[in-house]
Amino acid sequence: MTILVTGGAGFIGSNFILDWLEERDEPVINLDRLTYAGNLENLAELRGDPRYAFVRGDIGDRPLVENLLQKHAPRAVINFAAESHVDRSIHGPGDFIQTNIVGAFNLLECVRAHHSALNDAAKSAFRFLHVSTDEVYGSLDVDAPAFSETHRYAPNSPYSASKAASDHLARAYHRTYGLPVLTTNCSNNYGPFQFPEKLIPLMIVNALAGKSLPIYGDGMQIRDWLYVSDHCAAIRRVLDAGRPGETYNIGGWNEKPNLDIVRAIAGLLDEWRPRADGRSYGEQIAYVADRPGHDRRYAIDAGKIERELSWRPAETFATGLRKTVRWYLDHPEWLANVQSGAYRDWLEKNYAER
Ligand code: NAD
Ligand code: DAU
Repeated sequence: MTILVTGGAGFIGSNFILDWLEERDEPVINLDRLTYAGNLENLAELRGDPRYAFVRGDIGDRPLVENLLQKHAPRAVINFAAESHVDRSIHGPGDFIQTNIVGAFNLLECVRAHHSALNDAAKSAFRFLHVSTDEVYGSLDVDAPAFSETHRYAPNSPYSASKAASDHLARAYHRTYGLPVLTTNCSNNYGPFQFPEKLIPLMIVNALAGKSLPIYGDGMQIRDWLYVSDHCAAIRRVLDAGRPGETYNIGGWNEKPNLDIVRAIAGLLDEWRPRADGRSYGEQIAYVADRPGHDRRYAIDAGKIERELSWRPAETFATGLRKTVRWYLDHPEWLANVQSGAYRDWLEKNYAER
């Protein structure tokens, strides 16, 4: 048996593959286009591992995907591939439409054809797991109940709208064609290998470089943080025991305002890598112009996956953040390698005029 993972060179996909092969011996094919966010260094420890194969390519490339499905006959496809950064979707939504909607559609078409040609036993064992986000539900008022699986979709950014579209397509392929689709909607992840355009790694990198820590708006926007290996464990659990056609919300019961996150990072760096002048990294905090359409609050009700599949996060925010900051401090080469000219261009584009 084999699984096909798409987007496996990104942050969550690479953590998923590493965790998968630590837990099991079932081989993994990783199909990834290697955009700016894809990084094969994340998977360097798998070099020479016969259980792992990498294929560079696009989920929207039908001949390539058809060929992979035919050649490897995976018993499951797990779709992580996406453009994933909200700020980039505001500056340029085109790539998000192309990968997250058109690419997901092409992938679904290939998988549908593959699935329909399987024998009955293989057909009912097959799974297509679509990895999605809590952002499809839009923004919550401060005292509103957390998002359940039946919450109305109300995406507010080009990124979340494109993910919502792919969720709807995945659902339709289950209802119309009987494809055994599972969808997961997860909250904000953090941990090793996250590209430093996202809040937590960006703040670590900027703090260490003596740069300002840019807080959008008043910094009181709330996110529900989950350590990445808990997300990976939840996906494995949904793949093993989730019911086709169902969606599962995944979250850490861990709502925090952005400002608290940045102060916690500054506190850990003060302890582990004190500034030469003895002052706190917290002094580098700078309030900058808000993100357009910025969602005020996300919160996940993870009751369904806990009740039905007995999944629970293993990390608290305190333990997960310590592991994360430690990982970035211990991997300066990884960080140096991802901060290419293209990364610097992005910082200029997103922050220069804020
Ligand atoms: P990421 O941006 O770090 O990685 C995305 C990966 O997809 C990269 O390796 C990239 O090269 C690849 N990719 C992009 N376009 C592709 C294409 N057309 N064909 C093949 N590969 C392509 O993203 P991430 O943070 O690891 O997120 C992975 C998935 O999880 C996404 O679908 C995202 O929407 C979802 N998600 C992310 C979070 C989070 O907090 N990061 C939370 C919930 C859900
Ligand atoms: O909720 C799940 C989503 O979480 C995923 O679907 C996305 O792929 C992932 O990128 C993430 O989206 P966010 O927009 O919440 O993550 P980001 O790290 O970009 O921002 C987190 C919060 O921090 C958000 O309120 C914006 C704020 N922020 C972010 C950056 C980069 C700042 O205040 N300053 C910054 O410089």
